[in-house]
Amino acid sequence: AEISYIMVKPDGVQRGLVGDIISRFERKGYKMAALKLYQTPRDVAEEHYKDLASKPFYKDLVNYIVSGPVVCMVWEGKGVVATARKMIGATNPLASEPGTIRGDFAIEVGRNVIHGSDSPENGEREAGLWFKEGLVSWSQTMEPWLKE
Ligand code: GTP
Ligand code: MG
Repeated sequence: AEISYIMVKPDGVQRGLVGDIISRFERKGYKMAALKLYQTPRDVAEEHYKDLASKPFYKDLVNYIVSGPVVCMVWEGKGVVATARKMIGATNPLASEPGTIRGDFAIEVGRNVIHGSDSPENGEREAGLWFKEGLVSWSQTMEPWLKE
């Protein structure tokens, strides 16, 4: 099944937004496949954002991600990667629509509260990077009420 790696960044944890964010994915109907509060080692943050290593903001971005605990999650379900990106909103919160997570909760691109994988391939890659211990396999009793 398709999975997305979703992460509440340090600003979202400090601001008490974790519950609201988890609740949005739960209520949408996606299945939680992993969850933890985590102080990110610098090498993991660097690996996660390695495609942006040449950008001028890369160092600030890595410093931001390691500046406090994050909440790491994997969510599973049909179309979860693209749908999570819609729920999260545009990278720059001033361009994010109201109703999206960034649109509702953020102002600056360097404090944009949440990460979501940008492709199913990166969903798999990032889930493996952040959950080296593996995901949780479980059956959701409400599944017949979510899937036709
Ligand atoms: P993620 O879900 O975090 O990957 O964000 P994204 O996919 O919407 O954007 P992208 O992968 O292009 O950039 C990763 C992160 O780098 C963004 O979420 C921002 O926190 C940060 N970032 C991107 N562009 C800028 C920028 O121009 N300035 C600064 N300071 N940070 C940026
Ligand atoms: Mg990205």
